[in-house]
Amino acid sequence: MVHADAAKFAPDVTKEQAYEQVLDQAEGLFFEQRNWVCNLANTASLLWHAYKSLPAPSNQVNWAGFYTLDPQSRPGKPQLILGPFSGKVACQTIPFGRGVCGTAAATATTQVVGDVDAFPGHIACDGDSRSEIVVPIVVVPSAGSGGGEGRVVAIIDVDCTAPDGFDDVDRLWLEKLARLVAESCDWP
Ligand code: SME
Repeated sequence: MVHADAAKFAPDVTKEQAYEQVLDQAEGLFFEQRNWVCNLANTASLLWHAYKSLPAPSNQVNWAGFYTLDPQSRPGKPQLILGPFSGKVACQTIPFGRGVCGTAAATATTQVVGDVDAFPGHIACDGDSRSEIVVPIVVVPSAGSGGGEGRVVAIIDVDCTAPDGFDDVDRLWLEKLARLVAESCDWP
C-alpha cells in the first residue's frame, strides 16, 4: 500500500543511504504499477525529499524531475517534453542535442555539469541554478526480442543552486535509478 511516509528521510542519513532509500521505495511503489506518469511522479517526490533531508550542497537542489521523449516529435527531430518534477515551472520542450538535457538524450550519456554557465547551450529555465546532473533513461531491448540498440525514452534532471552540487555518488545512484525506472514502466 502506498503511504506518504515513503518520502520521509531520517535527518542524519548519508547521501548513499538516502539514494538507497529512494531506490527501495521506488521499487516498492512500482510493484504492479507500470504507468510512466504515475511512477515518474512518485520518483520525483522521493528525490526531492531525499535531497532536502541532506546537508549542503544536496539540500540546495532546486529542481528534480524528468523529461520524456515527446511522442509528437517531428520525424528525424526528436525532442524531450517536460515530465513529472518537483520545483519551479520549467521549459516545456527541449530538442535532442540542445542544453544539458538534450546533450544527455542525444548521446545517451550522463552529463555532470559543475558550472552551468560554462556549458555551451545550457538552457537557463531558472537563473538560480548553478550546477546540474542529467542521466539518460535507456530501454534496452531484451535478448529474446532480438536485442539491438537501446532507446532513450526519458532523462532524469536535477539542478542545484550551489556550484559543483553533484559528484560520482550522485552519478552512480541516479544511473541505478534510471535503470530501475527504464525497466519498470511501459513507455509510450
Ligand atoms: N537546464 C536544462 C534545462 C532543463 S531545466 O534545468 C529544468 C538544460 O540545459 O538542458
